[in-house]
Amino acid sequence: MANPSLLILPGDGIGPEVMAEVRKIIDWFGAKRGLVFDVSEDLVGGAAYDVHGVPLADATMAKAQEVDAVLLGAVGGPKYDKLDFSVKPERGLLRLRKEMDLYSNLRPAQCFDALADFSSLKKDIIAGLDIMIVRELTSGVYFGEPRGIFTEGNERVGINTQRYTESEIARVARSAFELARRRGNKVCSMEKANVMESGILWRDVVQEVHDKEYPDVELSHMYADNGAMQLVRWPKQFDVIVTDNLFGDVLSDCAAMLTGSLGMLPSASLGAPMANGRPKALYEPVHGSAPDIAGQGKANPIACVLSFAMALRYSFDRGEDADRLEKAVEKVLADGVRTADLMQNAGETAVTTSQMGDAIVAALDASL
Ligand code: NAD
Ligand code: IPM
Ligand code: MN
Repeated sequence: MANPSLLILPGDGIGPEVMAEVRKIIDWFGAKRGLVFDVSEDLVGGAAYDVHGVPLADATMAKAQEVDAVLLGAVGGPKYDKLDFSVKPERGLLRLRKEMDLYSNLRPAQCFDALADFSSLKKDIIAGLDIMIVRELTSGVYFGEPRGIFTEGNERVGINTQRYTESEIARVARSAFELARRRGNKVCSMEKANVMESGILWRDVVQEVHDKEYPDVELSHMYADNGAMQLVRWPKQFDVIVTDNLFGDVLSDCAAMLTGSLGMLPSASLGAPMANGRPKALYEPVHGSAPDIAGQGKANPIACVLSFAMALRYSFDRGEDADRLEKAVEKVLADGVRTADLMQNAGETAVTTSQMGDAIVAALDASL
């Protein structure tokens, strides 16, 4: 049987730095666990713009459609901020999500015991936390028409449109209910049905899917602004949260901080099943290209490493190896290995991105 295929798109800023550490881990699984991937690498974001004049070349898009999974670092940076909107680095990522139809974005927020003291919240609020945000990723205000900057009278007007069809809401709701059944069996759906018609439809459709297909799962509804507050007040009340594209973007950054650092949060973006029965998939950290620390060896590679663990679980049916990798990360943190973003007290010394990767590989070795 052919090796499973993986397309790596390191992107911009700290993207290539954190991805270099994931390459070490991919090599480790090849050498020590007989899990050899056909790995290809290509450009996305500003890196692609510099070479091709577009943030994602058609050939790269085609490759992404063919492989078993895509692994992406991060895109964007100040160098590209003034570019025309149509060729901004972020458009490359949005094109991948849209054309691969990756409608279900899983953003777990788990608190590692070793970091329970580190969060900006009190320890008992976040110790043992394990929640999953399911963010709709291919529609909503990110893609709705009309959009643009127009002139009205003698001033400009910026327009974006929040638009959801029933089927778009239903499919992401199903994915949240399926996940909940394998976890704590609870879904909280977040929208603003009090002010938005799309929110009313969202609430109705999620309830209908629940009543017809998942009556065994506990479902609640919450306005997204209250949801943001509840995430900080008592996050352990949640198991799975399902929400739209924009609310999901904001709520997942908020949830990231519960775990201590944005540098810890992985994600999986999943679409419909391919011929092999596995979902079309892209894995990426939740964080961006972090221009403020890029090129300094300061980036925490754990979010990207844990994204690869999600790939092992969701694309390659290697749940045990995913657990092994997550445990290796847990061990490294328990041993006190910290990148700068996880520093607690003055006087502690941080390891570099590369040293963190090496420590995870050493913990993997110790797991054999
Ligand atoms: P960001 O996530 O890049 O950074 C926010 C803060 O978190 C910064 O202080 C940064 O240093 C820190 N941080 C992020 N990741 C870290 C890591 N792995 N280790 C240590 N610290 C980390 O968000 P931003 O500054 O708002 O955006 C910068 C650029 O990244 C923008 O161009 C934005 O569009 C882009 N972006 C891309 C993605 C993506 O590729 N998926 C996601 C978010 C933002
Ligand atoms: C994310 C990012 C992206 C988003 C940007 C870079 C397009 O913030 O993945 O969270 O807004 O979805
Ligand atoms: Mn974001």
